Amino acid sequence: MTLSKDMLEKVAQIGRQAALAAGAVLRQNYHQPHRITLKGVIDPVTESDLQSQEMIISLIRQSFPDHDFLVEEAGVATPPPGAPSSPCRWIIDPLDGTVNFAHGYPAFCVSIACEAAGQMQYGVVYDPLRDELFEARRRGGAWLNGQAITVSRTDRLERALVTTGFPYDIRERLPETLARMGRILGAVQGLRRGGSAALDLCYIACGRLDGFFEENLKPWDTAAGLLLVQEAGGRITTLGGGDYDIFSPNILASNGLLHQALLSNLAG
Ligand code: IPD
Ligand code: CA
Ligand code: CA
Repeated sequence: MTLSKDMLEKVAQIGRQAALAAGAVLRQNYHQPHRITLKGVIDPVTESDLQSQEMIISLIRQSFPDHDFLVEEAGVATPPPGAPSSPCRWIIDPLDGTVNFAHGYPAFCVSIACEAAGQMQYGVVYDPLRDELFEARRRGGAWLNGQAITVSRTDRLERALVTTGFPYDIRERLPETLARMGRILGAVQGLRRGGSAALDLCYIACGRLDGFFEENLKPWDTAAGLLLVQEAGGRITTLGGGDYDIFSPNILASNGLLHQALLSNLAG
């Protein structure tokens, strides 16, 4: 099932509005002291994760009271009590890059996607410090601040700028992660770790990066970025080359041209 044109237009309008409003909250709070608690040994949550999430959910609920939510931070009843089952689910990371945000390192964003019948219909990622709004619509293209974007044309690994990320359970998977990273590091022009998976995917979509791989991401990390990469002409699979969905245990995204070479190097 795809959404009607009018419905998709309304979804995009509300999603964009929510991303911009939540981004404004993050921008305002960025230079203030933070209240930080830990969800795990190295997994932080700040007051701003929670404020951003509340802002997004309340804006979306005003327009779509029956829609479902899959969100990072706890405490959201979904579907709302007594509501009939909804055709749409919003998948939200209210602050992707919390470790960066908490340290004053300027690389974080808001990520919001709307899914219907198991397929992403609309995705928006907003970087409030750079005022960069990435958007994609299913079979409708991808944009950065209203300009159409496409993936890079880089076709040799030694010319490729690749990024990765480390999950919060990295201590339990250190040897494999380092071995995989070492193989890529020995093959590419440069390897980065930005600290926001949603932005990593957007940077593939607009050609700033040529490849991205990580393990153990969560649905809200990749839901919007997935659509951005696909609509910008890129490719996403698991690290083994299988079909990727937002519940997959690992991810490889690329401009498509480098996908096979990256898969071979990742496999060792
Ligand atoms: C994290 C970021 C980071 C990635 C972690 C994610 P959070 O999300 O996307 O880049 O390496 O695996 O959990 O916790 O900042 O929303
Ligand atoms: Ca995240
Ligand atoms: Ca988050």
